Amino acid sequence: MTDARMVGVSRVLISEEELRSRIAELAAELDAEYRNDFPIVIGVLNGAVFFLTDLIREMKIPLEIDFMAVSSYGDSTRSSGVVQIIKDLSKSIEGRRVIVIEDIVDSGLTLKYLIDNLASRNPADLRVVVLLSKWAIGQAPVQHDHVGFVIPDEFVVGYGLDFAGRYRNLPFVGVYDPKADSADLPG
Ligand code: IMP
Repeated sequence: MTDARMVGVSRVLISEEELRSRIAELAAELDAEYRNDFPIVIGVLNGAVFFLTDLIREMKIPLEIDFMAVSSYGDSTRSSGVVQIIKDLSKSIEGRRVIVIEDIVDSGLTLKYLIDNLASRNPADLRVVVLLSKWAIGQAPVQHDHVGFVIPDEFVVGYGLDFAGRYRNLPFVGVYDPKADSADLPG
C-alpha cells in the first residue's frame, strides 16, 4: 500500500538515522555546556516538538521545558514577515539560562522576533539551537549557537515541519514537491 504521507515529497533530504545521530551529538554538546545548571528549554510550537522531545531524551542534565507558539507563514511557503505570539510561556524566565529550540531558519524573521522578545524578559543568558538552517555556518542573520544541519534553500517537510498543516508526522526530512502534491484528502 502506498504511504499517503509521501505524496508531495520528492526526495529524502535527511534520514531518520542521520537525524538520530546528529541529535545525539547536539545533546552531548548541551550536556557539557549546561552541566552545572538547570536550564529552561523552550520549544517553538508546532514544528520543533519532534526535535525537542528527541533532543532532551538524549540529554542527561536536569532541565525544564516550556513552549511558545508563533505564526509567521499561514499556509504559504513564503514568510509573511509578520510574527504573532499565539501561545506564550507558562512561567517567567527571568534570571534563568534559556535554550531556544527552533526547527528551521529560513529568512530568520521568526527567530529574530522570538530572541528579541525573550531577551527582554531578562534571562541569565539565551542560546539558540536550530535543527535546520538555510544559512551557511556563520552567515545567518540571526543568532545560531548550535545547528543540526545546513540545508539547501528548498522547502522541506517532515520531522515536525509542515506544508499547510500536513507532513509533520514523516519520520525524516524531505523536499516538498508541489507538483506531485495532488492527493485528494478526505475532509
Ligand atoms: P523564517 O521566519 O523565514 O526563518 O521562517 C521560520 C518558520 O517558517 C519556521 O519556524 C517554519 O515554521 C517555517 N518554515 C520556514 N522554512 C520552512 C520549510 O522549508 N519548511 C517548512 N516550514 C518552513
